[in-house]
Amino acid sequence: MPVMALLGLQWGDEGKGKVIDALSASVDAVVRCQGGANAGHTVIVGGVKRVLHLVPSGMLYAHVTGIIGNGVVIDANKLVEEITALGAAGHDMTGRLIVSDRAHLVMPWHKELDRAAEDARGDQKIGTTGRGIGPAYADRASRLGIQAGDFLHEERFIRLFDTQLAAKNRLLAAYGRPTLERTAAIEPLLEAGRRLKQYIRDSFVPLRDLVAARKEVILEGAQGSMLDIDHGTYPYVTSSHTHIGGLLAGCGLPARALDSVTGVVKAYCTRVGAGPFPTEELGPLGDTIRIKGGEFGATTGRPRRCGWFDAVAVKHAVETNGVDTLVVTKADILSELGEVKACTEYRLGGQAVASYPRSDDLALVEPGWRTFDGWSEDLSGLRRYDDLPQGLRRFTSFIESYTGATVGWVSTGAERSQILRRTP
Ligand code: IMP
Repeated sequence: MPVMALLGLQWGDEGKGKVIDALSASVDAVVRCQGGANAGHTVIVGGVKRVLHLVPSGMLYAHVTGIIGNGVVIDANKLVEEITALGAAGHDMTGRLIVSDRAHLVMPWHKELDRAAEDARGDQKIGTTGRGIGPAYADRASRLGIQAGDFLHEERFIRLFDTQLAAKNRLLAAYGRPTLERTAAIEPLLEAGRRLKQYIRDSFVPLRDLVAARKEVILEGAQGSMLDIDHGTYPYVTSSHTHIGGLLAGCGLPARALDSVTGVVKAYCTRVGAGPFPTEELGPLGDTIRIKGGEFGATTGRPRRCGWFDAVAVKHAVETNGVDTLVVTKADILSELGEVKACTEYRLGGQAVASYPRSDDLALVEPGWRTFDGWSEDLSGLRRYDDLPQGLRRFTSFIESYTGATVGWVSTGAERSQILRRTP
């Protein structure tokens, strides 16, 4: 499938980085389309763990071209750090990383304002990653943003910076926060801009050409569909469209360029930060899943909230994104848990809920469950989909019949090799 969109269908952290890396052996380009350094895509190769925040997953293969599309918000200092660390580990980005000149920059004041807004929310905090994502997207929408392309004209960048700094310092003062000192804020950015210049250009034309040449391209979603600013659990969401529409708008490709839409789901469910979570397990089982699954944020280190697979949410995400194929990840974590459960219905006031509820109602729903026998086999050494244990096969068959999408892969461990493709 030359152009595949691959996105998470839950609340992020579904294992997209690992899946994209595993598929990238035969892929030509991977494109990040939205989000920013709030994402943490973990890839483990030969026992070495790398967390990619802005560089597209798949770039650990030297033949892959990476594009950071116009819809991404870029923390320039973090991107330089990431490129430098990858280079030191033998993964040179020169000549194969393209950063869209239209991508907006996360400025130092965005991070300060992110924290200030969270503090001002009192007991209604979202639990953001503190990476300045919301304020950066807000400035983009208000036509106040500074783009990566502005680094190519340093005088213009400085002019935009100074105008914004004055305005944002007034805002920070109004929040009762310390203001930003110009030299400390601008110098590292100018340095980062000079280092990034070689990568910054229009990213649409090279992408269009890759697609026209029928090269294998993956559009890499960040976060998950249930964190979409409109289709997720607002306001407990991120500030971009994590949904398929955001992937297209975030790189400029037309909808008809897509050949397939693949959704990644964990065999259970997690969420970081606040917001309704109908299948959350607050007792010892949640702790067991968290520890077994290593469910601590790749970006912030925060413990993730854990619970059973929410088929209602996944079906909603399959339908709104037009998902044809599913990748089920972390199936190994549910081995030896005994019974495995999935939520198949939300009830509100004794009535089954017919459409996906808004957050205030979602917080009140009673989940209806289906229970499966589970499986106790160790999956780590399996190399063929057909060898998956019966219990897990019954679970994936249920996911297919409930959501209407086909399970094409099951991931059974953190390593690149531990993903089993179902042969048609
Ligand atoms: P923000 O994107 O930093 O503004 O955070 C908004 C919400 O999205 C918070 O609940 C975060 O925990 C969540 N979030 C943002 N990025 C990720 C991610 O990559 N994985 C999981 N949750 C995320």
